[in-house]
Amino acid sequence: MNTDQTTSPSPGQAGEPTRWWQDAVIYQIYPRSFADSNGDGVGDLPGITARLGHLAQLGVDAVWLSPFYPSPQADAGYDVANYRDVDPLFGRLEDADKLIAEARSLGLRVIVDLVPNHTSSAHRWFAEALADAPGGPARQRYVFRDGKGTDGDEPPNTWQSVFGGPAWTRVTEPDGRPGQWYLHLFDVEQPDLNWDNPQVREEFLDVLRFWLDRGVDGFRVDVAHGLVKQADLADWDYPQEMLGGDEIDKPRPPMWDQDGVHEIYRSWRRLLDGYSGDRILVAEAWVEPAERLARYVRPDEMHQAFNFEYLLASWTAPAQYAVVTRSLEAADAVGAPTTWVLSNHDVVRHASRLALPIGTPRPNGIGAADPQPDAALGLRRARAATLLMLSLPGSAYLYQGEELGLPEHTTLPDEARQDPTWERSGHRERGRDGCRVPVPWEADAPSYGFGPTDASWLPQPSIWAEYALDRQRGVPTSTYEMYRAALRMRREFGLGGGTLEWLPAPDDVLSFRNGPVGVLTNFGAEPAELPVGAQPLHTSGPLSDDNRVPTDVTVWYRA
Ligand code: NOJ
Repeated sequence: MNTDQTTSPSPGQAGEPTRWWQDAVIYQIYPRSFADSNGDGVGDLPGITARLGHLAQLGVDAVWLSPFYPSPQADAGYDVANYRDVDPLFGRLEDADKLIAEARSLGLRVIVDLVPNHTSSAHRWFAEALADAPGGPARQRYVFRDGKGTDGDEPPNTWQSVFGGPAWTRVTEPDGRPGQWYLHLFDVEQPDLNWDNPQVREEFLDVLRFWLDRGVDGFRVDVAHGLVKQADLADWDYPQEMLGGDEIDKPRPPMWDQDGVHEIYRSWRRLLDGYSGDRILVAEAWVEPAERLARYVRPDEMHQAFNFEYLLASWTAPAQYAVVTRSLEAADAVGAPTTWVLSNHDVVRHASRLALPIGTPRPNGIGAADPQPDAALGLRRARAATLLMLSLPGSAYLYQGEELGLPEHTTLPDEARQDPTWERSGHRERGRDGCRVPVPWEADAPSYGFGPTDASWLPQPSIWAEYALDRQRGVPTSTYEMYRAALRMRREFGLGGGTLEWLPAPDDVLSFRNGPVGVLTNFGAEPAELPVGAQPLHTSGPLSDDNRVPTDVTVWYRA
């Protein structure tokens, strides 16, 4: 890409010390699918603790654990019944303490998930709300409203749930008559809390204290853009898209990104700042444009926000140039470091997503009857994308298994699916199970070493053996060794804390310098030239004999 010779900002302004999170690589653990210690087919905290050494060897700085709290698991734990304990499925509270201690001894920080937009319908508060009368104090912790129509039998407004179907469900009152409706932007079993209620605010400050006192380094805040709703709950007749992706022009939604959310995060920040150490808040906020998202990371609010615009960007040089530039500028405007992410537990893994024809709207899952992504092409692009991402200034998030080049499970039998999206969408959206399949550690062990038995809560595909960690460790061309070397060099050359300077390049090539390292990604059909005399340091795939960069390859070279 022929770009202006612009210089992009780096995290930490001149003279300020770099805080650990500003350039950290943070690895997401999805507890049910990482490592199973007791053979019941579901991963658990002791399983994670036993495998933390892998992450220290890989070279990440921190782990983020998706929810492990008591929960009926209607949404894989994002339906929390008790915020101060561990679900027996995953272990006990002592196991969380041991995990935090072991991580610390390995030099890894620990971030836990906080789910403040909704509780589980199995939470004590919701039982109290159902037992209370309309308008009663227990009801006021949630969003209850009378229905419309003569008998109140129509929902209070037209909002849709992110998982499909109406966002309201009618309750039966204690006297047995059909009664009020409650709001659930996600599953029926995930009632939205009422953040106008001071009791709700107090409760979450206390939950934060509970985990801070146990030594966690921070919180990933689920649906951070959803807590406050527009006061009039005005109708909104558009389908929900938690993850962006639809291109229709629509007014600002009354349930997302309301200005009132920011005061909540300011109060949380004050609390965290009162603790020793450098504890952080990370926003999961599907908010566009980047300037609007940047408001979540103003100096007195959160520390980081996931950069989903980056995750969604097309695999072309102009799209990647635009998203990197926009992201750096927007974060710099509020003095925050940028974050980068390519995969997580809600999206098709990038080793499969990037194989879809350029411009394909982001699919919500892939099924056996759908066109199947080309695994070799996907892996090639995924490796190039990862090497590009890890060379950018800021903090990067990895999702478990991507260091093995794991693809999406795209032929998962529909009867095995557990994501509520599948049922609630009337079997139109396959949902997120394909990226949540348990991780393969050993090619020749039961459940590929996920646990001591064959049990696996989602079936693992037969091709998992070739991706297993023990097949990749020590193999220089493996994806695992590519990640490990990249993380080592990223640290050695200070890339996370560096400064990006674009270099001129042909239209289908991205080229920049970050301190002593030059980076070039070739998106074009023809091989690309490296600058004269450039010495490659690391590549996502082999170069040609004359040192040119083939299609879909990223190179780091000594600049
Ligand atoms: C975002 C989480 O990442 C997703 O897995 C969950 O279903 C929703 N929030 C609702 O909590």
